[in-house]
Amino acid sequence: MRDSIEAGPSFFSVLGSRRSVRGFLPEEVPAATLESIFGAAQQAPSWCNIQPWRVWVTRGAMTRAVVDAMLHAADTEGPVPDFAWPPEYPEPYLQHRRECGGALYAAMGVARDDKAGRHEAWMRNFRAFDAPHIAMVAIDRRFNHYAMLDLGCWLQSVLLGALTLGVSTCAEASLATFPGAVRGVLGIPDELGLVVGIAMGYEDPAVEANGCRTTRAPLAANVRFVG
Ligand SMILES: Cc1cc2nc3c(=O)[nH]c(=O)nc-3n(C[C@H](O)[C@H](O)[C@H](O)COP(=O)(O)O)c2cc1C
Repeated sequence: MRDSIEAGPSFFSVLGSRRSVRGFLPEEVPAATLESIFGAAQQAPSWCNIQPWRVWVTRGAMTRAVVDAMLHAADTEGPVPDFAWPPEYPEPYLQHRRECGGALYAAMGVARDDKAGRHEAWMRNFRAFDAPHIAMVAIDRRFNHYAMLDLGCWLQSVLLGALTLGVSTCAEASLATFPGAVRGVLGIPDELGLVVGIAMGYEDPAVEANGCRTTRAPLAANVRFVG
């Protein structure tokens, strides 16, 4: 079933079972499957149909080269994202953030005061959690938050399309922490800013981090039906 779109599970079951996977098997995803995933995501909506996503999908030696460049940058420089990270998370967002971090560290068996363990967990981001593929996602720097909305629509399309074909993912803003290093390896032009990366591959169920489950607020916290 892995590679057949027609025989895939229903949309709502894919939506409900998608989660971030942070530990992958070394087995690569067939090129045709990756093309199906990204080909389907081309259908994502965007304002005036500008389709602003620009994407580099790695495999093999190129994945290793990108990871090596990011690990080297992480050892030698501070974060220099092309698009500023949120300066703060006020409530109620802070609480969600804490719960999500707590669930991940608990799954990994990393204690709150274990500084070395937390650092090691953070560094795993730059290894893309050992995924065989990384999709690096950039947009033209001249665009603003509306193009980011377009990118969000596209991103979720990729995550759900991937799972439909049995491919697990983790969206990672952390993969855009050292854009200079990534740009050099992939040849991403300067006029494009790096926004996010996606770790992609087949889930390794033996990795503890993959036991992490997040929750969602009740619908009424986010949506009001009026009239
Ligand atoms: C834009 C974006 C950036 C993210 N960046 C990271 C990241 O850098 N590292 C990470 O481990 N997870 C990252 N995540 C995954 C979120 O932590 C995850 O989606 C959230 O906690 C909900 O959990 P779930 O995806 O398992 O449902 C990111 C997700 C999104 C949508």
